[in-house]
Amino acid sequence: MAQLKLITISGSLRKGSFNSALARTLPKLAPAGLSISEAPSWASFPIYNADDQGASGFPAPVKALSDAIAAVDGVVIVSPEYNYGLPGGLKNAIDWVSRIDNQPFKDKPVSIMSATGGPLGGSRVQYQWRQVMVFLEAHTFNKPEIFVGGAHTKFENGELKDQPTADFIKQHLGAFEAYIRKVSGK
Ligand SMILES: Cc1cc2nc3c(=O)[nH]c(=O)nc-3n(C[C@H](O)[C@H](O)[C@H](O)COP(=O)(O)O)c2cc1C
Repeated sequence: MAQLKLITISGSLRKGSFNSALARTLPKLAPAGLSISEAPSWASFPIYNADDQGASGFPAPVKALSDAIAAVDGVVIVSPEYNYGLPGGLKNAIDWVSRIDNQPFKDKPVSIMSATGGPLGGSRVQYQWRQVMVFLEAHTFNKPEIFVGGAHTKFENGELKDQPTADFIKQHLGAFEAYIRKVSGK
């Protein structure tokens, strides 16, 4: 069977971000059937304004992210939870991408993970991402879910040190691979 390509999109721009660290950990925990790399950055996206889109079109970094999503077999969103909800920067990035013709999330397998300092690991934000993905007609993967609570106790210098968390992530990625093959026939 051909290897499936995935990209990770972290919802945090912070240098010491636990979500970005989690995203960087995934290639090491992936089954042989998955190749995982980081998506092009959304850090320079302007705040979405339809007038700007009308006047100047899509900024090059928006096109780069959209093309990268279109080119892969699946996307892993690794997101912080801000005020019980979506982090605005990544929501803005997805809003930009969603306005491109043939927006790339349609029929795309998407998995969601989250890491937080608090104990619940982003349980609320994940359901908000699922709601966004309904409108975008993505194939959002359900279970097992990955909520990394108390992230400061599980990462050291950007490395995941918690074996139970690593084991859950391996299960998630294995099941996500099977899900992608089921929905895409690949
Ligand atoms: C604006 C803001 C709002 C936050 N709201 C929540 C929240 O609702 N739930 C939660 O568990 N943690 C919340 N936190 C704490 C984050 O989980 C914590 O800062 C985490 O490290 C952010 O992810 P990152 O490490 O990937 O940057 C919030 C942090 C910020 C900056």
